[in-house]
Amino acid sequence: MIRFGVIGYGYWGPNIVRNLHGLDSTCVTMISDKNPAALARARKAYSSIELVSDPMEIVRSTNVDAVAVITPVWTHYELAKAALENGKHVFVEKPFTSSVAQAEELIEIAARKNLKIMVDHTFLFTGAVSKIKELIDSGVLGDLYYYDSLRVNLGLFQHDVSVIWDLAPHDLSIMDHLIKRDPEAIVATGEMHLDGVEDVAYITVYFPDRIIAHINVNWLSPVKMRTTLVGGQKKMLVWNDLVADEKVRVYDKGVDITSGEGLRDILVSYRTGDMWAPQVPQVEALRVELDYFAKCLMEGNTPFNDGMAGLRIVRMLEAADRSIRKRGELVHL
Ligand SMILES: NC(=O)c1ccc[n+]([C@@H]2O[C@H](COP(=O)([O-])OP(=O)(O)OC[C@H]3O[C@@H](n4cnc5c(N)ncnc54)[C@H](O)[C@@H]3O)[C@@H](O)[C@H]2O)c1
Repeated sequence: MIRFGVIGYGYWGPNIVRNLHGLDSTCVTMISDKNPAALARARKAYSSIELVSDPMEIVRSTNVDAVAVITPVWTHYELAKAALENGKHVFVEKPFTSSVAQAEELIEIAARKNLKIMVDHTFLFTGAVSKIKELIDSGVLGDLYYYDSLRVNLGLFQHDVSVIWDLAPHDLSIMDHLIKRDPEAIVATGEMHLDGVEDVAYITVYFPDRIIAHINVNWLSPVKMRTTLVGGQKKMLVWNDLVADEKVRVYDKGVDITSGEGLRDILVSYRTGDMWAPQVPQVEALRVELDYFAKCLMEGNTPFNDGMAGLRIVRMLEAADRSIRKRGELVHL
């Protein structure tokens, strides 16, 4: 059983603690939060777990094998570094770090000390993303054309990061997982209306083989929407994460262009076949993810959502920031 110390018991931390507490492969021995009100909530929920305000007590404890860093983005590097330097494996929230340089340093420390890093790219463990990956990898969609995602809602405003660093890591990590190629370039545009960070943004990512991705992230939307289109040469799908049934619908639709003898003999034919909704497993993604991490640690395997995966996302986030500062200039990766 892997013994976890959890740092950060704000909005997301309780979900991590609940899942780690409920799994057979893991337990939580310590929780740290510098906010006494957060610790009081933890005390009410888990009377037997040791609670401390100083996270250094967790990273130095002999009663902890792995540290979960569930704090604001700007603290990830410092806390994960302290954990690694004290010989602890690290589970760290998305986005991995605030910069590429920080991510590279953490990866180097972990490699040197033979420790594992896992970045919480939760969506990769959802039934919907597993199903979409299966459809792509088995060739059902055919060659990929595009990934197009709408991830908008009103708030929750973060003060330390923009809407890009808050919401786009979800789509960037899903794209990274599904497309499996290194992006070539990024264009991003956005605006700050309220708080000195972008609250509305549009990101375009160019991949090899003419695969293009677009992400629309927005904290100023009157309604919450989570809709993603994935288009392939053979089939296209729509994933609506907010519905209980038929989250993923696959459409046998497409366009074929054939050219005849002469220049004007281009024939465009539209294919409209069936729509079907594959069975999407109903799982709590965090539970699956944390169990997978514990198994990786016990068997000495590197998780696929490791520090390198975290770094690839941070690299795209940094590029998006550079592009935004230049009002949408193309940034090569
Ligand atoms: N994977 C997901 O779907 C998902 C969802 C929400 C948030 N997150 C991520 O989780 C992280 C935390 O987000 P949140 O919404 O829970 O934030 P939050 O502000 O609600 O909670 C953070 C908690 O960390 C505590 N904290 C901060 N610095 C600390 C330190 N040095 N030592 C001890 N405690 C400290 C704060 O007191 C607070 O209680 C962020 O990185 C965010 O991106 C991920």
